[in-house]
Amino acid sequence: MNPVRAPEVPPDKIAVAVAPVPPPPVIVTAGTAKYEPPAVTETFAAVTPKSSWALAPLPPTLPSPSPLDAVVAMRPREDLSIDKEYLRESQYKDPTNLNARIALHTKYTQADEPWYPWLAGRIEWSAGVEVLEVGCGSGALWAGVAPFLPDLRLTLTDLSEGMVAAAERAVEPLTNVELTETCACDVQELPFADDAFDVAVANHMLYHVPDPLLAVAELSRVLRPSGVLLAATNGPRHLEAIAELSRQGLGWSPLDFSDRRFGKSTGEAILASRFGSVRWDQHPSTMVCTNPDDVIAFIVSGAAGQEATPDQRRALDDAVVARFQQNGGVLRITTDTGCFVAREPGGS
Ligand SMILES: C[S@@+](CC[C@H](N)C(=O)[O-])C[C@H]1O[C@@H](n2cnc3c(N)ncnc32)[C@H](O)[C@@H]1O
Repeated sequence: MNPVRAPEVPPDKIAVAVAPVPPPPVIVTAGTAKYEPPAVTETFAAVTPKSSWALAPLPPTLPSPSPLDAVVAMRPREDLSIDKEYLRESQYKDPTNLNARIALHTKYTQADEPWYPWLAGRIEWSAGVEVLEVGCGSGALWAGVAPFLPDLRLTLTDLSEGMVAAAERAVEPLTNVELTETCACDVQELPFADDAFDVAVANHMLYHVPDPLLAVAELSRVLRPSGVLLAATNGPRHLEAIAELSRQGLGWSPLDFSDRRFGKSTGEAILASRFGSVRWDQHPSTMVCTNPDDVIAFIVSGAAGQEATPDQRRALDDAVVARFQQNGGVLRITTDTGCFVAREPGGS
């Protein structure tokens, strides 16, 4: 699949974002479709600078990076969020980066029901159920929900061997969870028989997959006809204060891509290619942070932070501290997250 890219801009031109244009419809046809994420809400045009622009002196306090730099720089970054080698060997080589982000949620999210029990509560669980988790990360879900669930048989998979090993360690002490198999594999190519599982879980991972249609086809294939998929993901407003600070300091934010690739806005059409019934449940929550260091740790654990120059890191620190100061020492962060519950695998 070809990710959306800004067109090449000739050296005598500058790129400007002209917008907004309505995104084209997602065309999904069971079996044969290629997934095309909806277009970005800006489109790029190469224009010749007017001579008056070229001659005008630069403003003494041009914001750095400028909003235009951020828009232009953002396009190729999307590749990183679906680059399997980068994800396996760097971002998710082990749970360090993921844990930094989970820590912010654990410390500051306010919700009547915490995320993991809420997620598990989307469906009924019966004893002896055969469960598959893809992109399991550090296995934090099971440590969080096992006390509320009956006995279950669990297969854990992730692209990263380091993550699978960490998840094994997390699940090992759980007395009602029998770990039947673990495997480092790609959700787009699952090494399991058809109709092998009652429940499949894809928790905040389908936006990292190069071809989410293929992943959904695989998940549908390995589920029994009575099976159900929990596909958790984010909406367009998720952590927007953090995304904005990341753009301000580092020039871009990985959060900008998740909704377009597989999110609240796009997931239903993708899932409907292989499931007869799809429902979205929103997790009601919000976040109020009181320590800028926790926000900085969250941002630098992501792809933009890993790539940042020392100047960008300083710019990020300054932006976050200034934002806390402006807001009386706190940062209120919108959350926009939830889960698709997809049933009737094979149907569409
Ligand atoms: C954001 S983390 C979520 C981890 C865990 N589900 C959680 O919510 O804590 C995304 C996970 O998906 C894994 N992943 C990324 N691309 C994948 C793919 N194509 N197939 C399987 N796992 C993948 C990553 O290695 C990482 O562990």
